[in-house]
Amino acid sequence: MTTLRLRPEGPADTGPVRRVLAAAFARPDVSTPPEVALVGELRDTDAWVPELAMVAEHGGEVVGYALLTRVRVGAEGGGTVPALVLGPVAVAPHRQRVGHGTAVVQAALDAATELGERLVVVLGDPAFYRRFGFTRADRMGLTSPWSGLGDPWQALVLPPSTSGDAPVPRGEVFFPPPWSKV
Ligand SMILES: CC(C)(COP(=O)(O)OP(=O)(O)OC[C@H]1O[C@@H](n2cnc3c(N)ncnc32)[C@H](O)[C@@H]1OP(=O)(O)O)[C@@H](O)C(=O)NCCC(=O)NCCS
Repeated sequence: MTTLRLRPEGPADTGPVRRVLAAAFARPDVSTPPEVALVGELRDTDAWVPELAMVAEHGGEVVGYALLTRVRVGAEGGGTVPALVLGPVAVAPHRQRVGHGTAVVQAALDAATELGERLVVVLGDPAFYRRFGFTRADRMGLTSPWSGLGDPWQALVLPPSTSGDAPVPRGEVFFPPPWSKV
């Protein structure tokens, strides 16, 4: 049986990742879905955390992708503290519904825990994200331009790791400029 390999992306993965995103998010009204540009632009910002751009490879082919990048959370009394946003998450259509999406997201979250990260936010369908432990972010004191959407605005507190047990941030979540496009 061909096994799934989960690893951070390397320079040779840029094209394959682009193809997975374009296929997974394809819509009839756009030639290239905005998630492709989002990832390309985030790669050039200091929000990029190389260890947390995770690919799933099956039989030598990149078939899945889960990206965690830096956001900032407004701290009480001023200043901000770091957190992460999950997305885009994509699996090539011909490999969907066989567990790759779950596996690549879990690998990214595990890598974030290893790095001592404490908080991940996501905007997406709870039917997919609740399996990782995500729950409504507004009920955790986290706001964003998407908080009004209710259920899709979610967050996950990662367990303390040996490399850090920083407190869990709460407050307004600030996204870097590339996110304004989606
Ligand atoms: C969402 C996506 C990443 C899931 O990847 P996958 O490899 O098909 O997912 P898995 O096989 O690990 O898990 C499938 C499970 O997720 C659910 N699921 C799959 N796609 C879903 C979606 N778009 N919304 C909600 N749930 C979804 C399935 O019902 C299934 O549930 P089950 O385990 O209870 O049967 C993939 O379908 C995809 O790329 N979709 C298009 C891009 C997209 O919408 N990404 C963001 C998702 S919010």
